[in-house]
Amino acid sequence: MGAYETISVDPVTPRVGALVSGVDLGGPLGNQQFQEIHDALMRHEVLFFRDQHMSLDQHKAFGARFGELDVHPGSPGPDGHPEILIIHADENSKRVAGERWHSDVSCLPEPPMGSVLHLHVVPPCGGGDTLFASAGAAYDALSEPMKQFLAPLTAIHSGDHVYRGRYAHQGVDDRDKVYPEAQHPIVRTHPVTGRKSLFVNETFTTRIPELTPAESRALLDFLTAHIVKPEFQVRFKWAENSVAFWDNRAVQHHAMWDYYPEVRSGFRVTIKGDRPF
Ligand code: SIN
Repeated sequence: MGAYETISVDPVTPRVGALVSGVDLGGPLGNQQFQEIHDALMRHEVLFFRDQHMSLDQHKAFGARFGELDVHPGSPGPDGHPEILIIHADENSKRVAGERWHSDVSCLPEPPMGSVLHLHVVPPCGGGDTLFASAGAAYDALSEPMKQFLAPLTAIHSGDHVYRGRYAHQGVDDRDKVYPEAQHPIVRTHPVTGRKSLFVNETFTTRIPELTPAESRALLDFLTAHIVKPEFQVRFKWAENSVAFWDNRAVQHHAMWDYYPEVRSGFRVTIKGDRPF
């Protein structure tokens, strides 16, 4: 990965997050611009863009340059756009998407590679930031004995307790639906960079089957708190028409709901990934 010729990339912190400028995400991306955005994502794990104007089709086309788009297992998209996830909160909201730390849909056997969120409405009072934590930086900071202890362990990630009943306000009756559940290594290796990272999160991860329930709970509590320490984080302050593109294999994120009853609204596409190893 060399210098960038078609975009500008300004790191927000040394570990995670960069602001990218000089690109129109709504237009067709040339091969070099695509490659440089991909390289920047591999290096910085989450990229931020300002003043982007994309229709739903353009948003999907941008995401699709990076891989096949995923359809969310619970939330229906707008008419004709099943690959679009609506992100919306207002004075009627009882909860918002992503308000606990997570890697998107980690309950899938092949969890998403990345997600691209475009916000159209941001709260006038400020707030509604998204926090991202580098799970690779968190892994690197562990002691060698802890790394060795974790190496053979797996964890169960379940969608049922997260999604069941959640989309009733969008007309979804999921009484007969089976939500995904998957078993993943606790330490995963990034398929592109080769970097090891911690792959458990407080939203989806329910237990470590190799341990007793008490051991499992204590270790998950330790790991989920460790991953999101402030020194592994970057915090993005949204403006209208900002975009965040994150690598779900490298970071976890948390949507801060500190703006009730104001409106925050936009759309996300999610790019399919591989089975973690
Ligand atoms: C999500 O994709 O988990 C929501 C992120 C956000 O609304 O900031």
